[in-house]
Amino acid sequence: MSTWINNSWYVAGWDSEIDQAPVARTICGVPMMFYRRLDRSVVAMRDACPHRLLPLSMGLREGDSIRCRYHGLKIGSDGVAEEMPLKTDAVNKRICTETFAVAEKHRFVWVWIGEKEKADPALIPDLWPCSREDWTFDGGYYHIKCDYRLMIDNLMDLTHETYVHAGSIGQPEIMEAPLESSVDGNNVYLSRWMPGIDAPPFWRGALKKEGLVDRWQICRFLAPSAVMIDVGVAPVGAGATIENHDQGVRGMVVDFMTPETENTHHYFWGMARNFDIEDKGFTARFKRQQGGVFAEDKEILEAQQAAIIANPDLRLNAYNIDQGGVRARQVINRLIREGTAMEQEAKA
Ligand code: FES
Ligand SMILES: [Fe+2]
Repeated sequence: MSTWINNSWYVAGWDSEIDQAPVARTICGVPMMFYRRLDRSVVAMRDACPHRLLPLSMGLREGDSIRCRYHGLKIGSDGVAEEMPLKTDAVNKRICTETFAVAEKHRFVWVWIGEKEKADPALIPDLWPCSREDWTFDGGYYHIKCDYRLMIDNLMDLTHETYVHAGSIGQPEIMEAPLESSVDGNNVYLSRWMPGIDAPPFWRGALKKEGLVDRWQICRFLAPSAVMIDVGVAPVGAGATIENHDQGVRGMVVDFMTPETENTHHYFWGMARNFDIEDKGFTARFKRQQGGVFAEDKEILEAQQAAIIANPDLRLNAYNIDQGGVRARQVINRLIREGTAMEQEAKA
């Protein structure tokens, strides 16, 4: 059984990463390549020539097609052969390479893993802050050598900030405020409400007001593998609540973990915000700073994965602080089990 959910959309790349030249990326164990047709629509194909399996991503673009760089088999963007290595050979249209359903939304290119006919763009996780006109969004990419679920555990547990991010975003109030978690269908919430505190410098600058604030951190896991963290502050008495808090300044840390193999994943991270949205300098500085913070997580998680492999006789333990990650894993396991059960029914 795989460790990821089938019949789901996964982020394959930032929309800006994918252009005319093929990009090779293994998604959920399948080597794929991505490129744009001349009309800018995205093609996703198995990254192996049907002939001798050379990666097609090494091939040469010809119009919307790709020519293998070994013996010159030409494959159309629909995956079907257009020209044989020997030009005098009749084209055998049964020669083809697998193609995958793709969609573009929220600044990402998404690929469907599972049965192609079930690919419905309406099922793309709703990362709404990435697309709203009154918000701005940017971020980056890291390749991480760990099981994608370890990153979900990490993001659904903010207590690690105190130690992992001691020099950057760690703050003692985070450890003191009580945690609440809940499950709603395929979403898991973990929230912290910090009423009447001194705003940390970052948020005081964003709010542009003195005085005490209510501060929140609400982690939300969305299947198959997104985490959005709603963060911000509002002046005390402005009426902000855990459900409704647009009275101050608000940011949404957006993370998408796409499995590559069982023990590696593609990490797409960023932050959307609803303040100073025209300030491009702020966006660039914040992205650099956030990249620095997530590099701290990368170091810890890769060391954790190596330790998991080196200690096969030991298992992970969960304490109270891990409740968000534990619940997210329960949702993931349930959806994997349901998917497997459906597959078995279909085969029976
Ligand atoms: S391996 Fe691609 S044409 Fe031979
Ligand atoms: Fe972190």
